[in-house]
Amino acid sequence: MKNKLISLLLLSVIAAGCTDRTDIIRENIEHAKAQLAYLIEASEEGDTLMIPSTYKFDKIEFVPTDDWVSGFFAGTLWYMYELTGEEMYAEKAQKHTEILHDIQFLKWHHDVGFMVYDSYGNGLRLKNIPGYDTVLVNTAKSLATRFRPAAGIIQSWNTDNPKQWQAHRGWDCPVIIDNMMNLELFFKVSEMTGDDTYRNIAMSHADKTLKNHYRDDFSTYHVVDYNDETGEVRGKYTAQGIADESRWARGQSWSLYGFTVAYRFTGEERYLQRAKDVAKYLYVEEDNMPEDLVPLWDFDVVEFANALPENEFLYPNLKDKELPKQYTEIRDVSSAAINASALYELYWHTKDEFYKEIADRTIESLSTEAYRAKVGENGGFLFMHSVGSLPHSLLNIEKGRTKSHNIDVPLNYADYYFLEALIRKGRVEKGENPIR
Ligand code: GLY
Repeated sequence: MKNKLISLLLLSVIAAGCTDRTDIIRENIEHAKAQLAYLIEASEEGDTLMIPSTYKFDKIEFVPTDDWVSGFFAGTLWYMYELTGEEMYAEKAQKHTEILHDIQFLKWHHDVGFMVYDSYGNGLRLKNIPGYDTVLVNTAKSLATRFRPAAGIIQSWNTDNPKQWQAHRGWDCPVIIDNMMNLELFFKVSEMTGDDTYRNIAMSHADKTLKNHYRDDFSTYHVVDYNDETGEVRGKYTAQGIADESRWARGQSWSLYGFTVAYRFTGEERYLQRAKDVAKYLYVEEDNMPEDLVPLWDFDVVEFANALPENEFLYPNLKDKELPKQYTEIRDVSSAAINASALYELYWHTKDEFYKEIADRTIESLSTEAYRAKVGENGGFLFMHSVGSLPHSLLNIEKGRTKSHNIDVPLNYADYYFLEALIRKGRVEKGENPIR
């Protein structure tokens, strides 16, 4: 394992010697400008704006405003404004932000933190647009309705509507590791308003996650189901990984990013320590982390592929069968991009060069043609090769639905977190705080 680490760092040092690291930022900005010109045009139909989420079968797929990924395109445009200073991006970003106006009142799932912070949050930060602060506060109020005081957590998904995602799993109060990403909104709103209610909820949620979501090696489960009246943990599962006991890659990324943010706002050592432990698990101890640092969609896919768990919900039609080989080699670029962004922040808090080297190496890998789209291809998205939810996609394929089949495709959040990482890289290299 040590050898793997040394070879990673050597690769970084060699790459650093060969590449002017400012160039890689500039060059990625030029690439993004060219790609997004196409995607911006495709997302506008007269006065109607659409939200691009992915591209497959030669078509861009658009999502409704209440989809969890609806804020990422607006956020991508805000980041392009931040990277280039070009007002055109701010104008487009503002329009794409404001189509999400009603999300501040959405209470039926937990993802409003992502949706509103990426869009309105960035707009507020970069342009201080009047009214955006109120949207953030209203969103925090909506999200706070999902706090379950006895269990001390924010409920991720509802369980009472059979049409809803995962409602059939028999869970009472499911919490997914992704939910750590919604805490940034809570912390920010408490900072803005002086009302500690949201910060207290966020810390309660972070503390319960710290206690209940992790294995001894600091990898995380995807789902923890609570009894919302007693707070007891009913069980630990996956919804998007290959098995309950597997390490779904993006879940590990949300965990790294989420605890880094929790430390940023609270200064609590236990959160910083958890982020460091997760980074160590991922980049020192995880034997299945590929050398180029772009994770397999699930680190344990190979182990479980030949013995799929008896799980009627995950792979009903593959029970007792093997996962087709083509799914065992797929990477998740979104996971790599989230990790890189989190690692620049973790580097800033710790000044430990290891985190920056790993982040730089990830940016370098993603900037190769193995992952980055050729200009004019990929529907205008920046990166290829991400995975939404493989189990759900397989079900959709079997049912003949092409929509929501998100295996090995571009995803708008991979692009969003990559640009965020690029901004952070630029700042830390100038000795500036990556977070503004
Ligand atoms: N939050 C859903 C996902 O990461 O796929």
